[in-house]
Amino acid sequence: MQSIRNIVKDDFDAVNELIMNQLHSEVGLVEQIGHYLIEAGGKRLRPLVVLLAARASGYNDDRHIDLAVIIEFIHTATLLHDDVVDTSNMRRGRFTANAQWGNAPSVLVGDFLYSRAFQMMVRMGDINIMNVLADTTNIISEGEVQQLVNIGDTNLSENDYLQVIGSKTAQLFEGASHTAAILSNTDTSTCKALTAYGRHLGMAFQLVDDALDYSNNNSSLGKNAGDDLAEGKVTLPLIHAMSCGSSQQIEALRKAINERDTGQIQVVVDIINDTSSLSYTFSKAKEHVAQAKQCLAALGPSKYHNAMLGLADFAVDRTY
Ligand code: IPE
Ligand code: IPE
Ligand code: MG
Ligand code: MG
Ligand code: MG
Repeated sequence: MQSIRNIVKDDFDAVNELIMNQLHSEVGLVEQIGHYLIEAGGKRLRPLVVLLAARASGYNDDRHIDLAVIIEFIHTATLLHDDVVDTSNMRRGRFTANAQWGNAPSVLVGDFLYSRAFQMMVRMGDINIMNVLADTTNIISEGEVQQLVNIGDTNLSENDYLQVIGSKTAQLFEGASHTAAILSNTDTSTCKALTAYGRHLGMAFQLVDDALDYSNNNSSLGKNAGDDLAEGKVTLPLIHAMSCGSSQQIEALRKAINERDTGQIQVVVDIINDTSSLSYTFSKAKEHVAQAKQCLAALGPSKYHNAMLGLADFAVDRTY
């Protein structure tokens, strides 16, 4: 990850500086919560997608810095809201903002970051970028609502699941690479290829996130594994286990999902292992990584292009 960041080191530092500047508010609590979450780190993957996609497309100005910050603010806003919705209490190795300050400040500061992102977008003044990112945020919200509707549904299909992760997560990765292509004035086919790259990267990323949620390694993850079961969220490891487990195993899974019982996490993990459901989830992620890499064939060779290949690998090789 560090070596990928180093490829765009100056850009990356400029992004972090602009993030700090743009967190400014006259209201102390906004800055306090904003800094708390932003300073805890985060992988900054989506800004990296923007920076690398722009540079790989030959972009030579500095507006990609603003774009990267806009995308990271949208991401951070979704995390603030997500942790309230998922009643999570760990994020980036710290207590979540909702655990620390409560739900109301988290929701409201999430709104602040969303609207700051839109202020910055308007200042950029590119109607095509605004168009893509307005759709992006709308679709992310739809995905989160659809996921809420699907809670506890033990008959959820793999396709229903893919639809949700496509909206809630892949859409923002796609928005990142798509808007970088727009900013860089690429031709239509390169723009399409970069857009598809972001989509596949995002799909792989969420598939792995959902596998890691059953991996039981909180300290490297920086968030609590097992949150998905606690919320009755039916993700691919569970869907696959229910599609090929014994009738006894299926019954045990249904019960754990219905009761949202983290006390049964070990039983669930055992069934997931017994049915090779994490391997299945990883194999699906790897398919998306391979497709993401294929999309990059549209770009000429460069160190940025290589870094984008590396980013695709990171989506599945990561432990955090
Ligand atoms: C978390 O995203 C939300 C998901 C889409 C799974 P990241 O894992 O990229 O979060 P940070 O920014 O690195 O903390
Ligand atoms: C994250 O999904 C999607 C968005 C933030 C929109 P998760 O709920 O799985 O993300 P984590 O695991 O809490 O980071
Ligand atoms: Mg969550
Ligand atoms: Mg969630
Ligand atoms: Mg998760």
